[in-house]
Amino acid sequence: MLKNNLLLRALAGQKVERPPVWMMRQAGRYLPDFRKLRAKYDFFERVRNPEMACEITVMPVHQVGVDAAILFSDILVVPQAMGIEVQMIESKGPVVPTPIRTAQHVDELITTDIPGRLDYVMQAIKLTLQELNGSVPLIGFAGAPWTILCYVIQGGSSKTFDTALDFCDKHPDLAHRLLSKITDATIAYLLAKANAGVDAIQLFDSWAGLLDRDRYREFSHQYNTKIIQTINQQVPTILFAKDRGVELDQLMDAGASAMGIDWNIHPEAARRLTQNKITLQGNLEPSILLQDHQVVCDETLKMINRFGAQRYIANLGHGILPETPVENAIAFVDTVKSYTIGEN
Ligand code: CP3
Repeated sequence: MLKNNLLLRALAGQKVERPPVWMMRQAGRYLPDFRKLRAKYDFFERVRNPEMACEITVMPVHQVGVDAAILFSDILVVPQAMGIEVQMIESKGPVVPTPIRTAQHVDELITTDIPGRLDYVMQAIKLTLQELNGSVPLIGFAGAPWTILCYVIQGGSSKTFDTALDFCDKHPDLAHRLLSKITDATIAYLLAKANAGVDAIQLFDSWAGLLDRDRYREFSHQYNTKIIQTINQQVPTILFAKDRGVELDQLMDAGASAMGIDWNIHPEAARRLTQNKITLQGNLEPSILLQDHQVVCDETLKMINRFGAQRYIANLGHGILPETPVENAIAFVDTVKSYTIGEN
């Protein structure tokens, strides 16, 4: 039994005493203890070592006081399990030395035994559940197939992902074959995570905003829907389609338990579009956590009042910035935790 099940109650649309709070990308980056590990071990070494992944996962629970842990890992472990080489290069981010270009390459991609190939993730989940000992829920995650396609076609990070977009224009059938394979691998991976014991799953569609509306439905949303509809039968799900807040009314038809939103949409507009029917998660602009303590507290309080405290999960609108002072992350979390319904 969980001692703190606020997140799960908010996801189920049940009444809460106050909203739950966690931060996207909370495991690492801005934490001094994480930086120490980062100096000693390379990125995928940390990800593949269950003890280290567990240690990093629980850091923000102990040091910042969030209401949920998110497993330290990366969205790019799925393409790795499919047989695509992905490196993490200091100051450059992810690099895919042999980007996908041909039908043969797509056909060769592995979709069998994904859980076995990612057994280190399942081991990390088991260790983390022991370590958390029911204190807070554990969130598992994966990248949306579209966001994964962006990296494996482009060959790494990019501001525009022009090569990936061009590939979808010129070779739509092949893009769909690739997206279908990533979808199958992701479903197998997330079902295994649910079986290993995660309490909820977030699907990160970080590059959702690159596509126009019609192409978003075609190249991303239909695949996200397939994943959410399968996984949501096992554990509650959160769909985060960055920069697509104005389409929340359409995107909620995927059937997720909650929709994650970025700061490009007002809380009131998000509530209006979703007709108060679904839990919303977000959406403080991450750079607010770089400002004065008082600004962090004021903006956080304002955000909760605008969303309303029920059917709401307080979070940032995207990942916490690496330069965030830990005390400001704590101020954000503490403001939510001291929120009293009815008094504000
Ligand atoms: O709370 C957490 O941080 C949990 C673990 C987590 C990581 N990546 C660890 C990580 C999660 C949830 C992710 C998701 C992820 N990875 C996304 C989707 C979320 C988002 O931010 O949009 C994406 C697009 C990736 C791909 C990726 N991984 C990039 C672009 C980079 C380099 C830039 C960066 O974020 O620092 C990574 C590396 C990465 N993944 C780091 C961490 C802690 C930093 C590298 C390091 O520690 O050496």
